[in-house]
Amino acid sequence: MNPPPHKIQVPEGSGLRAAITGTGSYLPERVMTNADFAKIVETTDEWIMTRTGIRERHLARVDETPSDMGIVAARRALEKAGISAEAVEMIIVATLSPDYAFPNTGCLVQAGIGAKNAFCFDLEAACSGFVYGLEMARRCVEAGGIRTALVLGAEKMSSIVDYTDRQTCVLFGDGAGAAIVQGVRDGRGVLGTVLGSDGTLADLLIQKAGGSRMPATEETVRQKMHMIRMSGREVFKHAVLNMSQAAKKALECSGCAMEEIACVVPHQANLRIIEAIAARLGVGLDRFYLNVERTGNMSSASIPVALDEAIACGRVKPGDKVLTVAFGSGFTWGATVIQF
Ligand code: UT7
Repeated sequence: MNPPPHKIQVPEGSGLRAAITGTGSYLPERVMTNADFAKIVETTDEWIMTRTGIRERHLARVDETPSDMGIVAARRALEKAGISAEAVEMIIVATLSPDYAFPNTGCLVQAGIGAKNAFCFDLEAACSGFVYGLEMARRCVEAGGIRTALVLGAEKMSSIVDYTDRQTCVLFGDGAGAAIVQGVRDGRGVLGTVLGSDGTLADLLIQKAGGSRMPATEETVRQKMHMIRMSGREVFKHAVLNMSQAAKKALECSGCAMEEIACVVPHQANLRIIEAIAARLGVGLDRFYLNVERTGNMSSASIPVALDEAIACGRVKPGDKVLTVAFGSGFTWGATVIQF
């Protein structure tokens, strides 16, 4: 019997699994601290730290774009995987802040790294984008159509943040993270994934203008409708509920117990959200890799950057099982268990 559509199990028998064989990340040089924010909006380091766990975040230069950041992260991931850009057959860039409405950011990354054999597209699932992208790559790789994919999360949140709105501006940062996904038969790979969405709650976290429903006009720009608007408290509740449920379902459908997970790499929006998920999963925060204090919420880039850092510092080692879990606008959510 087929599993329900939101529970995706790796087909048994083929032995072919989609593994992450290299990761890379990039954070812009410029750092904006909570003290810097206290100079431009009515806030304090104490409020931001207590409510979010964020101390600082990296912000891109004016002339630096998601594709620029993605290109650096992609090159680093290719190097770690020990492959050339020509080997990449598919590029998926998860982003809600693309360089352009079109062409897609994936094509710009392709040109930047010279992945001339790849087809490229963007995927918009907000903060869940990397988990969605990884699952799309897994399906292509395990179906046998693609041998090597590049999945990126790349965001310039600073281009859509209203720096006069203290409720949102302190939360976000810029950056990019990349993963090379390849078919292997050595036991590594994605063990199980759960994805979900609820479009009835789209208004709770939204960039209203700039799309075809509300094209940019002088009025929409004056009213800052092309910037992020969020009902923070509501989003918080849904994030905790859906992330903890998705994490549990991903463990279940991958046949893993929480005790087997060496490291949880969650979407890094708010330390309090992560603490609530840890409590619901019945584990301590020490089981989680955290960088929210240094990066803020980088939307789709949060998980791949954290994953790359966790591997680089030895928190994730060969043989480890990792659980990633995300939640974002849409609403969208997802969780996946990966064997390294
Ligand atoms: O990436 C995926 C989606 N995003 C998230 O997961 C974010 C989810 N939401 C959150 O993380 C939290 O709701 C926030 C961090 C955004 C806000 O924390 P909160 O504990 O929910 O605060 P609140 O919105 O209920 O605001 C509490 C108070 C309000 O003042 P009053 O009405 O109680 O007088 C706000 O005006 O804090 C005030 N406030 C601030 N004060 C100082 C809001 N932002 C700030 C600020 N500095 N930056």
